[in-house]
Amino acid sequence: MTTEPLDPAATAAPTPPASGTAVLERPAGWWKTAVVYQIYPRSFADSNGDGIGDIPGITSRVDHLAQLGVDVVWLSPVYRSPQDDNGYDISDYEDIDPTFGSLADIDALIAALHARGIKLVMDLVVNHTSDEHPWFVESRDPASPKRDWYWWRPAREGAEPGTAGAEPTNWASFFSGSAWQFDEQSQEYYLHLFSRKQPDLNWENPEVRQAVYAMMNRWVARGVDGFRMDVINFISKQPGLVDVPAVPGRAHVPALERFANGPRLEEFLQEMNAAVGLDERHLLTVGEMPVSTPELARRVTDPANAELNMVFTFEHVELDRPSGASKWEVAPLELPRLKKNLAVWQEELADVGWNSLYWDNHDQPRAVSRFGDDSPEHRVSSAKTLATVQHGHRGTPYVYQGEELGMTNTRFLDIGSFADIESLNYHTEATGQGLPAEAVLQALAVRSRDNARTPVQWDDTSQAGFTEGIPWLPVNPNYVVVNAAAAVADPGSTFHHFRRLIELRHQLPVLVEGRFALLLPDHEQIWAYTRTLGEQVLLVVANCSSTPATVPPGVLPDVTGAQLLLPTHAGEPSARLQPWESRIHLIG
Ligand code: NOJ
Repeated sequence: MTTEPLDPAATAAPTPPASGTAVLERPAGWWKTAVVYQIYPRSFADSNGDGIGDIPGITSRVDHLAQLGVDVVWLSPVYRSPQDDNGYDISDYEDIDPTFGSLADIDALIAALHARGIKLVMDLVVNHTSDEHPWFVESRDPASPKRDWYWWRPAREGAEPGTAGAEPTNWASFFSGSAWQFDEQSQEYYLHLFSRKQPDLNWENPEVRQAVYAMMNRWVARGVDGFRMDVINFISKQPGLVDVPAVPGRAHVPALERFANGPRLEEFLQEMNAAVGLDERHLLTVGEMPVSTPELARRVTDPANAELNMVFTFEHVELDRPSGASKWEVAPLELPRLKKNLAVWQEELADVGWNSLYWDNHDQPRAVSRFGDDSPEHRVSSAKTLATVQHGHRGTPYVYQGEELGMTNTRFLDIGSFADIESLNYHTEATGQGLPAEAVLQALAVRSRDNARTPVQWDDTSQAGFTEGIPWLPVNPNYVVVNAAAAVADPGSTFHHFRRLIELRHQLPVLVEGRFALLLPDHEQIWAYTRTLGEQVLLVVANCSSTPATVPPGVLPDVTGAQLLLPTHAGEPSARLQPWESRIHLIG
């Protein structure tokens, strides 16, 4: 497994948790009964009127999380950063960006969460750093010992450095253009799979790995309970860094097969696990892994392999585009494909490994607008039913801020309203290639990450109670109706539906451990499945459409005498389901 010895001094835990921070018990496997709530700090709550959410803002809202009943907060990056990609470009892993607060503020947040029995998971962004990180700044000098910490390469053989087409390979960046940036100073290129301000770290270099593990250990010592690992399956590149087959009409080609799931991925994960004591200390670990397969996820989450607890798959959030197309191309979602995809993951990881369950995060459009129906008529029911379907599966559910309120996509009418680097770069590239501006704006309306990043709607006062200043991204105008104050006050709201689902997970072992079986796989409206543990069967039946649906006779288990745990609609359950009606029955 581990090839190079680790320097124990570099990875030892140096300090005890900050004073005043209660350490929460982490029994083995605790994360299996947990529900995680993701906070995107820039958009959560602003405490100082600068229009940008911050850590004291989060601390002021921890009672909202406690009332919802979540067990864990995953905090998107708050480290020091030039904010080129809203904090996913880190220039100091061990300090907090002044935009978000200070180390004292994070200690206070940990203490406030722990005091309410809520754990904190930090975002770990170590496939790349910021180009302003001292490691990268030093590596710009070809003679520096840090040169090999990043992927520096000369121009393509025979090409004039710095000219179009001279990049070392034809790989595309996720944020448009080439994945290589020419550096005038050293006349070489560096690799950046994301923005040019996010150079990729070279994990082949053992010093890089040791520096990362040492940093992780210091965060654990500070009191955090785990890590969400950003694009962690990109850390092992295929040897050689070579071109991928050309695609007509494209100067730069997506090259996932050259850098995702590379040959040393599992070795690095095992080494990290041992060096940080991830399993030993029962820390929650979830790896963001685009293009991961159920087979890989099973290996990575098999406890015997000591890698990660769970991974984020992308398969189910890529079904509403034509096969092989980019995220900007939209195709109607076929419910049977979505159900069957989740079922494959359920089955593959049934005996070994563990799933994460999510619809939403800071990179995805809002679930209720994408998979549900955000019209005034169906918004609440569809948000509830999507939550029921998600939380009923086997795995750890993730709730993205505002999802519990049924927050929807926004509608920006001009490019000037967008802030996301991916969206802005796509707009420049696509309009530059001649795509009509209207079509590009339409794609952004459906897909832009800014849909998830509009400020959390706390109440119906000015700026939705998010800030006393001007928000960095416009508040969704529907905040007068869709907001936390209204939802918490209404027992029939999406908030209380989520709260009840979380409660059920804490109460019912069958919801945590029960074996999954998909029913009616080809039905185009109804999503139905069972979870079975011993004599108990949980039946979830959901109409995932905006028209009524009828359950075909004789295909679902008999619910006579069963407990109706969580219906979305009042009245006697019948075979006829209202639009977006769902129920959970407990049989036995
Ligand atoms: C995945 C993160 O979720 C996304 O927000 C970010 O832009 C990229 N990784 C790069 O860090």
